[in-house]
Amino acid sequence: MAGAAITLAGVSKTYDNGLLALQPTDLAIGAGEFITIVGPSGCGKSTLLRIVAGLVPASTGRCDRAAEVETGFVFQEAALLPWRTVQKNAELLMELEGYPAADCTARAREALATVGLAGFEKSYPHELSGGMRMRLSLARALALRPGVLLLDEPLAAVDELTRDILQEELSAVWREAGFTAMMVTHNVHEAAYLSTRVVVMSARPGRVREVIEVPFAFPRPAELRATPEFAALTGRVTAALRRPETDEVVA
Ligand SMILES: Nc1ncnc2c1ncn2[C@@H]1O[C@H](COP(=O)(O)OP(=O)(O)O)[C@@H](O)[C@H]1O
Ligand SMILES: [Mg+2]
Repeated sequence: MAGAAITLAGVSKTYDNGLLALQPTDLAIGAGEFITIVGPSGCGKSTLLRIVAGLVPASTGRCDRAAEVETGFVFQEAALLPWRTVQKNAELLMELEGYPAADCTARAREALATVGLAGFEKSYPHELSGGMRMRLSLARALALRPGVLLLDEPLAAVDELTRDILQEELSAVWREAGFTAMMVTHNVHEAAYLSTRVVVMSARPGRVREVIEVPFAFPRPAELRATPEFAALTGRVTAALRRPETDEVVA
């Protein structure tokens, strides 16, 4: 499934309690891009993702897709059903969307193989490591063959070594499947490794401070992380995050 371009125009969010969570945001994301979003806690990153997912309505503005595509969502908590096997968890979203049972079975199996969980179909979530549960959560979204994949801090709870490996796998899956990805992360290294562009947000009420191009070619070797160019890029992202609010040029 090819990725769909996403255009945000003046998208803002004020929750029902009056809290302004996201200031008007413009962002044009190309088909097949991998965008990461970094910013302080509570700045509206999850809100932005939920608006793109259609899980919450925007208060102002529009979020448009270039094509009708499935949207996959991966959360930090893998949110698996403990009484269902790995295979049945991977089928869940397709099942909820009413796909024929044979398609659910075949596509879930394929997605599990993609994330390295072939052979674990009959296991239960409690039998999996944290990294494997995250792979399963990813497989469940991939089974939909999404044109847009939204990831909200999916790797925040896994240890550092596993996190590096999962980043490499996620990057490979993205390149192969071609979906457009938007991922929230707290980790500037993760942002630099995975993305085509990093969106840096200000503290609440969040707005886009800076969009930083990541120039490294794909596929990106694991060793990229040890290069001076990579350190320079993560340094730029960190500096953009830390820049005092008083320096802001508010239009
Ligand atoms: N359903 C809601 N109702 C009211 N306020 C909310 C709701 N969801 C989030 N918020 C508030 O909106 C702000 C942004 O939240 P969120 O998008 O989750 O931030 P982030 O993901 O960047 O940490 C926070 O102050 C949060 O408390
Ligand atoms: Mg969040």
